[in-house]
Amino acid sequence: MKMKTLAAALTSVAALGLALAAAPAAAASAEALLRAKCLACHTETDEGLSRISQQRKTPEGWLMSVARMQIVHGLKITDEERRSVVKYLADTQGLAPSETEGARYALERRLNTVEAFESEQFTQMCARCHSGARVMLQRRPAAEWEHLVHFHLGQFPTTEYQALARDRDWFGIALKEMVPELARTLPLASEAWKQWQARGPQAVKGEWSLSGHMSGRGGFSGVMKVAAGEGEDRYALAFDGRWDDGKPMQGKGQALIYTGYEWRGDLVVDGTPMRQVFALEDGVLRGRMFLRDHDEVGADVVASLQQAGSSRVLAVHPAHLKAGETAELRIVGAGLKGEVALPRGVEVLQTVKRSAAEVVLRVKVDAAARGVHPVAVGEAAGGSLALYDRIAAVKVTPAFAVARIGGNGTPTAKVEARFDAEAWAAGADGQAGTADDFRIGVVPASWAVEPFDEAAVRDEDLKFAGLMDAASGVFVPGDAGPNPARRMSASNVGNLKVVAEVAQGGERLRGEGQVIVAPPRWNNPPIP
Ligand code: HEC
Ligand code: HEC
Repeated sequence: MKMKTLAAALTSVAALGLALAAAPAAAASAEALLRAKCLACHTETDEGLSRISQQRKTPEGWLMSVARMQIVHGLKITDEERRSVVKYLADTQGLAPSETEGARYALERRLNTVEAFESEQFTQMCARCHSGARVMLQRRPAAEWEHLVHFHLGQFPTTEYQALARDRDWFGIALKEMVPELARTLPLASEAWKQWQARGPQAVKGEWSLSGHMSGRGGFSGVMKVAAGEGEDRYALAFDGRWDDGKPMQGKGQALIYTGYEWRGDLVVDGTPMRQVFALEDGVLRGRMFLRDHDEVGADVVASLQQAGSSRVLAVHPAHLKAGETAELRIVGAGLKGEVALPRGVEVLQTVKRSAAEVVLRVKVDAAARGVHPVAVGEAAGGSLALYDRIAAVKVTPAFAVARIGGNGTPTAKVEARFDAEAWAAGADGQAGTADDFRIGVVPASWAVEPFDEAAVRDEDLKFAGLMDAASGVFVPGDAGPNPARRMSASNVGNLKVVAEVAQGGERLRGEGQVIVAPPRWNNPPIP
């Protein structure tokens, strides 16, 4: 297959698109569809369909397998049929929520995550071409892990000649050491999955109180109304909220729930298409919401369903106040009834608004108040508020990010990098840099980039690799393609230091991070 076709096919399956999905076929017809579509090559066995019935994975994992059947093996299936098959497989052969813990960043498309695995062997053998999370999000018996190793070498024979393979017997180690290790740590049968399958359906419909934070933009909160949609596990949603700076934020869309908890939303927020990748457990949705066409631009989100017996403070906006300050405080949560318990030294001047979803107060902070303290409303606990007098240090988060050149008539868009300045304060000992330092939160900063090292100075990365927006911490990389103005007509890649400066009195506090400006990512599968 020509590269271009492959890239296009992968892009078209790059996410679980819901927008055009019609009502799903019932499980019975999905099963019939599997037989009709897959038995041309797979076979009926005592344990189900060969290869297919002996694996469990996420919706995105199933999507990638079926897409590979299309791209590599020539399976003919319509987009709608593929949606039914993926839904059915994810529902019947999925992962329990606990089995995805620690690897959800890959589903949530947090592509700046730097993975760290205990096993050096696993890292070198299995997490160098793709994320280790792709592996951690699957469950198979030994025979299926073994088939997977064979598939790797059969499909990509150069595996053995690449770095971290040609220095060792990759195939031998994969079969003799990795297969038993994977079958032990990521087995097909598990207690967690058995228990998850035995659980009843979860409550979904109603009003969800939602709170989030987007790098380079700030916090937001609001109410997401969820109603029945067209078809099983489908929901219609409408979000009505506000950014912490007071601007309104409104969205409408739909969501599909896989495996009883894997919430995948597709909505338009203030004219911009966005996706939600959340996990639903015990009346709480947690995950990430990001721009459909720029998944690097996203927000951490948590939401809680207003329902009988559920009370919880999700967040306090803003989550930090300066000693002596008077401010409006928004406590967001579910079942917010009863007395508001604020940290000592925070005095309520006025109750601006009260509902089960939010309590808005005007407060004044005592000049001597310090530290991170819990915030509760009646039975609802879980909030916290940081009170500080002086910022002792500024950290840039993420400390390291990858931006990618793009545009300029090429098929891949630029991938920007977004940073926040996180302020820290000295704890009770008054000394900065000790274990009792506490995180204040994200504060405004003025942003700049500098060459990271000598090579960056020599190649004038500052001039070519991109621009940092001084006010927001959003870095937009340069155009794709060779640049005749550069040494050896190199493209606009680069290595830059990210600098945040926070003013405090006459002082300027500095925090540093790094952005690598890399070539485009041509292959962008649902699980990196
Ligand atoms: C045209 C032949 C063909 C059809 C049709 C086909 N497959 Fe496959 N399938 C293969 C081959 C060959 C392999 C082994 C190589 C590989 O993993 O790509 C495979 C392997 C698999 C695997 C194992 C992948 C892994 O990671 O170990 C799964 C799961 C799978 N197929 C699912 C399906 C499903 C579901 C369908 C029907 C919707 C289907 N296949 C239809 C040829 C096919
Ligand atoms: C040489 C690069 C390379 C190495 C090393 C590698 N992989 Fe892969 N892996 C790939 C590619 C390429 C794919 C195919 C992606 C696709 O087309 O769906 C893949 C796919 C996968 C999938 C998804 C298969 C499916 O359809 O469900 C899993 C799981 C996986 N690899 C596990 C592993 C494990 C375990 C190891 C270590 C034993 C490993 N990989 C090492 C390149 C690699």
